[in-house]
Order: sequence, then structure tokens, then C-alpha cells
Amino acid sequence: MNEKKEKYTAVVLAAGKGTRMGGSVAKQFLEIGGKPVVVYALEVFEHSPEIDQIILVTGADKIEYCQKEIIEKYGIKKTVSVCAGGRERYESVWKALQTLKSLESEQEQKNDYVLIHDGARPFLNQEMLERLCACVKEEKACVLGMPVKDTIKLTDENGKIRESPRRDLVWQAQTPQAFAAELLFPAFEKLMQHSTEGITDDAMVVEQEMGIASVMVKGGYENIKITTPEDLLIAESFLAEK
Ligand code: CTP
Ligand code: MG
Repeated sequence: MNEKKEKYTAVVLAAGKGTRMGGSVAKQFLEIGGKPVVVYALEVFEHSPEIDQIILVTGADKIEYCQKEIIEKYGIKKTVSVCAGGRERYESVWKALQTLKSLESEQEQKNDYVLIHDGARPFLNQEMLERLCACVKEEKACVLGMPVKDTIKLTDENGKIRESPRRDLVWQAQTPQAFAAELLFPAFEKLMQHSTEGITDDAMVVEQEMGIASVMVKGGYENIKITTPEDLLIAESFLAEK
């Protein structure tokens, strides 16, 4: 008989305010190439044979919009929940994990792996996703990323350079980041028990709370996060190439 496939859930984060981008529409809902930014990543998960279900996290006031104008309009059928996020990114992840827990009891099935993705990264592709899914089975905690191109300097609060790390060991972390569920749930449960600052990705949570180092998996230089207005120009030129 067929070996039972392990279960993968993708969490797509779209609850941010986009303060660095500015403007009245949050960046994940701005249109590039005629579609809202967040739709691109949702379509990659929708078409991936590895991914079983999708949880979309957004602002409490954007849930209806997302259901109608994103999920229904673009046919993202794997979506099992559109839930409200929190003030900080890690709080949005926490909300998604709580949603996932209640879904697990309804579905009477646990998840083996959870992938967390920034809805503001539209250029994820199937190859990147495949590499990540293959790695997480072996390593339990994996992060897409790329080696940095510039030399990186660590400074003190006054901007004085304190360290110049070896460039060949410095990576820029991207998303998705993928974790065994048995690691990710307890990591966030622990995190939420204390006051927390400066958490900018999920690998940090797993490292800090569980003492487990994630493994870097090659993403792509095109897997940018739309963050500031010039990123929209870069995104449009990537789309024009395709
Ligand atoms: N995000 C989220 N909930 C938050 C903050 C961020 O779901 N409370 C999401 C964003 O929507 C984005 C991703 O996490 O897809 C990465 O965050 P970031 O680029 O920092 O987005 P914003 O927080 O929206 O932007 P800014 O920091 O400039 O305000
Ligand atoms: Mg932010």
C-alpha cells in the first residue's frame, strides 16, 4: 500500500502595516503585474504537491477582503483558514499556530511540518520550495537564504564598526522557513511566556527557545521581500523578464 504522506501546512503572513513602504494600501495587497503581491506566493503553495493546506494571516479588518478578493478570486483552494494576526510578526505566527491547533482537533490529524512565509515575498518558486521541503524532513529546521553580496559590518549603537564577519559565512535569511511541528509549537509556546523584542524571523525563535540551529537552504536572489518603494520597481522588472 501507499506510504502515508506526511502533512505540510503553509502559513502565509499578510497582517503587516508596511510602514517602510508607506502609502494607504498595505504592500502585500498592492498590485504588481496585475495581481496583489500576496497572490503570487499563495499560488506557489496551491500548486505544490508537498503542501496540503494554507493558513492566511491578515488584519482583523481584512479577513473578508482576503476571502473574497484573494482566496475566492484567485482560486486558492487549499486555504483552510483566513485568520487575524497580531501587532508583531511573531504574534501573527502565534495566532496562526493557535488556529492550526484547533484545526488539528477538528481534522483529527496532526501536522508534521509547518512552513512560514512572508506574504510580501512574491518570487518564491517551486524549485526553492522543493529544496526546503526535502531539507526539513532531514533537519527539522530549515531556512531559505542566499549568501550576501556586500561585505557586512557590525557596528555599535553609534555606527562605529566593531566587526567585519567573514563574508563567505554571512547569509541573508529569506522565507519560507520550515520546521517540524513538534519543534515549532513548543518554541512559540515558550516565547509567548516572556516579553520579547527584536524577533524578526522564526529560526530565531527555534534557536532561542529550543537551542536548535536551523540549516540554510539555497533560496534565490529573486526571492526578495517587498519592503520599500524601490522594491516595487525591482519586482516589476522581474515580472517583465518572465
Ligand atoms: N507581518 C504580519 N504581522 C505583523 C507584521 C508583519 O503578518 N504584525 C507580515 C507582513 O505582512 C509581511 C511579513 O510579515 O508579509 C514580513 O514583515 P515586514 O516586511 O516587516 O512587513 P511589515 O511589518 O508590514 O512592514 P514594516 O516593518 O515596514 O512595517
Ligand atoms: Mg515589520
